[in-house]
Amino acid sequence: MYDVYEVRKDFPVLEKVIYLDSGATTQTPKPAVEAMNDFFYNYGANYGRGAHRLSIAATNAFEDAREIVADFFNAPPENTIMTKNTTESINIVANGFGFQKDDHIITTMGEHHSNFVPWLRQKENGAVVSVADIDPEGFVNPEQIDEMITDKTKLIAVGHISNVFGSIQNIEKIIQIAHKSNIPVLVDGAQSAGHMEIDLAALDCDYFAAAGHKGLLGPQGTGILYIKDPETIQPTVLGGGTTSDADACGFKTKPAPERFEAGTPNLPGVIGLGAAVEYLQKLGVKNVEAHENKLARDAAKRLKEIEGVEVYGPENRAGLVSFNVEGLEPHTVAMRLDKAEKICIRSGYHCAMPGQKALGINGSARASFALYNTEEEVDIFVKAVLDTCQPF
Ligand SMILES: Cc1ncc(COP(=O)(O)O)c(C=O)c1O
Repeated sequence: MYDVYEVRKDFPVLEKVIYLDSGATTQTPKPAVEAMNDFFYNYGANYGRGAHRLSIAATNAFEDAREIVADFFNAPPENTIMTKNTTESINIVANGFGFQKDDHIITTMGEHHSNFVPWLRQKENGAVVSVADIDPEGFVNPEQIDEMITDKTKLIAVGHISNVFGSIQNIEKIIQIAHKSNIPVLVDGAQSAGHMEIDLAALDCDYFAAAGHKGLLGPQGTGILYIKDPETIQPTVLGGGTTSDADACGFKTKPAPERFEAGTPNLPGVIGLGAAVEYLQKLGVKNVEAHENKLARDAAKRLKEIEGVEVYGPENRAGLVSFNVEGLEPHTVAMRLDKAEKICIRSGYHCAMPGQKALGINGSARASFALYNTEEEVDIFVKAVLDTCQPF
């Protein structure tokens, strides 16, 4: 196990606040910030565009970072596309899959809007979308997905970990069920990447979308998309970087991953992401997972003991806890925690309205934990929620 107090030295902002909003975006460790500075100070240039030394250095650093990220997920680098966030990754698949009239897509009520709206939008192409239920703890039942499959089902899109309930879905089972009928599966790994060990070769999903700026500790503006068979997706944005030949009669696209990375990429961001993933690997993802889950489960248990506080999600949750305080809007709870103890939590619908509306939850407050949070912070947080329940 790593020393959390040593780790905190790499995240200076943690001296100023209690940061419990890592589900939205994490803080970035010093080595990653330094790697980005190094790019700007010493070799800032464009990707693959020139024969000069700076361009070569920048291209090599970008490709090294891709390899680190791909290796982290046990995926080939050529199948690992660097995007700007999870949302872009999912949209690349939704818009490049080529859905046609009567094609059937299955998703679930537990999804973030980023893994929901892009599929609903395919109705404009005549596709039919079915939405599997979630139970009161946010779990999807793989058997229900099995029953929804028809001979027209073309894709199943499911989130790995719910960003509202912290429920860890049985995606292995869902993939197994889907593959029995040769149906590809997209996994939204926004809340799982970097928070648990993920071996994409073993998992065998067809598409895996994740953020670089959440559990992987990279900067904002980074994301990844793994595509098992890049030929199944047509690139939707074309131009520089994607093209191997062009004349007045037509053009040829490069192979993956370049064909999905049109224009100048986020070079400093991806280089920072590579350094962040190396940092995470040194601490060990299994250690990180155990640490985060313990904090969240402890916080959930203690919040449940407070009268007037309702906690959502299962006991064996991942590293986040959503809750409501009777008589208070979630935003009011968040503002009071900030004012009282500089605690930063998320409040509202967390961009996941369908599931909450279905379960009659009118938004919630959410504390989400990362590898740098401590037991002392949980103590202060629980005490602050307790105080919030008292008349202001
Ligand atoms: C489950 C889930 N999917 C998708 C997203 C969107 O991620 P991004 O901001 O990287 O596009 C989030 C963000 O919180 C999320 O929690």
